[in-house]
Amino acid sequence: MPYLVPPLIPPGRLADSVQPSLPVSDGLLLRPWRCADAPAVLAAFADPAIQHWHLRRADTEDEARDWIDQWRNAWYCETGAHWAVVRPEGAADGTGKVLGRIALRSLIPAIGQAECAYWVLPAARGRGIAPRALSVLARWAFEEIGFERLELAHSVLNEASCRVAAKAGFTLEGTRRRGHLHADGWHDMHVHARIRGDGLPDRL
Ligand SMILES: CC(C)(COP(=O)(O)OP(=O)(O)OC[C@H]1O[C@@H](n2cnc3c(N)ncnc32)[C@H](O)[C@@H]1OP(=O)(O)O)[C@@H](O)C(=O)NCCC(=O)NCCS
Repeated sequence: MPYLVPPLIPPGRLADSVQPSLPVSDGLLLRPWRCADAPAVLAAFADPAIQHWHLRRADTEDEARDWIDQWRNAWYCETGAHWAVVRPEGAADGTGKVLGRIALRSLIPAIGQAECAYWVLPAARGRGIAPRALSVLARWAFEEIGFERLELAHSVLNEASCRVAAKAGFTLEGTRRRGHLHADGWHDMHVHARIRGDGLPDRL
């Protein structure tokens, strides 16, 4: 059956191009994941805070590499877009030290919607990396790709994530009761969103 409205983001908009790297202020870069990032992903999921707010864990570098493969393939399947947040300067191989992750997942290209996800390694927290990465991601998604609405959800107990959402201009829209089952039980979830045309924080 034909659709009544044309897709907001036509098929191939992501898959027909190479996933870009996106500069962030203060010399940071969002770059596509590489297999060599597996130790950093493994280290991230050894952190109790990252573990607390995620549904899965990685126990070995092979598992971390499998995840990275899935993140890379998501671009070509147009189901997600995942970046490492890195500081490239000074890295001998130019690829940069991984500081965190930022992603779009649950893409619905036809109506230009996706969900944002992020974590930052413990040593890099408290420097505004997540909100800056999220702002750059949102600008790219709205201005370069044509998304209409980006959503993010976090447990009402995850105050740091709530701050990230607020600083990146994601309005709190409400609470999804028992919205997520984490390892320690059900969590009510704050739902934040930014839609095309909402004010973009220029710099954070
Ligand atoms: C939530 C998270 C991504 C924030 O990243 P960040 O780059 O540290 O973000 P910010 O620097 O803007 O700090 C956000 C808040 O974290 C808190 N914070 C500050 N320094 C911190 C530190 N060293 N360690 C932990 N939290 C800190 C503050 O409340 C801060 O808000 P404020 O700037 O209004 O004071 C990061 O703490 C993290 O990865 N947490 C574990 C995984 C997670 O919660 N992911 C999100 C799931 S929805």
